[in-house]
Amino acid sequence: MNNFIIIGCQWGDEGKGKIVDLLAEEADFIVRFQGGSNAGHTVVINNKTTILHQIPSGILHRGKKCIIGNGVVIDPFTLIKEIEELKSQGYQVTEDNLVISHFVNIVMPYHKIIDKLRESRMGDSKIGTTGRGIGPTYEDKIARRGIRLVDLLDANKFNEKLSGIIDEKNFYLEKKLGAEALDKEEIFSSYLGYAQKIKNYAGDVSTIINTAVRKGNTILFEGAQGTYLDIDYGTYPYVTSSNTLAGAACTGSGIGPNRIEGVIGIAKAYTTRVGGGPMPTEIKDDLGDRIRESGGEYGATTGRPRRCGWFDAVQTKYACMLNGMESLVLTKLDVLSGIEKININIAYKNGKEFTDQIPAGPKNWYEYRPVYEEMDGWNEDIAGIKKFQDLPENAKKYIYRLEELTESKIIMISVGASRTQTIIRENPWNR
Ligand code: IMP
Repeated sequence: MNNFIIIGCQWGDEGKGKIVDLLAEEADFIVRFQGGSNAGHTVVINNKTTILHQIPSGILHRGKKCIIGNGVVIDPFTLIKEIEELKSQGYQVTEDNLVISHFVNIVMPYHKIIDKLRESRMGDSKIGTTGRGIGPTYEDKIARRGIRLVDLLDANKFNEKLSGIIDEKNFYLEKKLGAEALDKEEIFSSYLGYAQKIKNYAGDVSTIINTAVRKGNTILFEGAQGTYLDIDYGTYPYVTSSNTLAGAACTGSGIGPNRIEGVIGIAKAYTTRVGGGPMPTEIKDDLGDRIRESGGEYGATTGRPRRCGWFDAVQTKYACMLNGMESLVLTKLDVLSGIEKININIAYKNGKEFTDQIPAGPKNWYEYRPVYEEMDGWNEDIAGIKKFQDLPENAKKYIYRLEELTESKIIMISVGASRTQTIIRENPWNR
């Protein structure tokens, strides 16, 4: 394949950062197409951990072109910080290797305040957002009152747009959320300053990507979050505010579906979620804590502890259908080492009824109970294993069973955080 999309099959944090970084070695272009600084892609190279929020992980490789598509929302303050941090670590970040679509919507200070204050007023029903202003920015985008990068680059137009918006935002902040009004001139001058720092990165992303496709360049489309945080197909309303499914790669970067050659799913060997909402296979006892600790399951963006549970094969199979995936990368298999019995969810039970269908709404999700198939675990430390045949028999059986249940081939298995701790059964670039 010359290009493909990488998508998380669960609730995000599937380990996409590491896999994208590994696959990026053979990519000419790496494209982000949705989400924003709510994402946290962790990459470990030579024992050094880098967490990227907005810039595609391909930036860690020399000679690659990283693209931020129109479907992404950009917080210029944190973007500039991210660029400066990368530069201080010796990575190259210039207009030659980073291009940001003119059409990205910009996260404004009022978006972040609204996100945090709204959440704090929701009590038990809060979404558990990352507080990065993502939802309110997408709201303004859809309501056609968003400020885009192209607006920031034209001081007069930016001034006009901001003047038209600020009164309404301040009214909402003061009257509804009990916050202080924001000073328009302060926002205007700080954002003009940001615009100066990022203007050279702005470009026509669609033309760049389509030209690359025509030339036969290799392109990796890097999804953020995961299938069940999708605004339509996720556990609504406990979702993020963008489409996280593979289809969003097209609308979020300006490329036709017929130009995309494949979709690869990333699934963790167990399940995690951070924030509120249903999670049928959540383990609420000591074992959940043990998985959290050995898997380092704390949010890359917020540091919040992640909820941990068993692998949900019903959910992953449905994710494969939604995204058109036939192959999966299984991550963090090493975290399950030493667990005597491992469960896989194979169906849901609602009262006396069984189903292998995904629940349609949060109410049903909460009523559905998992139906587990129990498998024997393994005790061996597998973190150094490089070949599939060297895995313990029970680990292989676990993988074969996941393949059967999800009707997908597991082409790569990650057994540790570093690039080298990966068992490659099939390289998707060679397909
Ligand atoms: P928001 O995207 O900040 O609005 O958060 C909405 C929901 O998505 C919350 O449950 C977040 O915890 C979750 N979320 C957003 N981004 C990520 C991510 O990159 N990994 C995991 N969960 C995420």
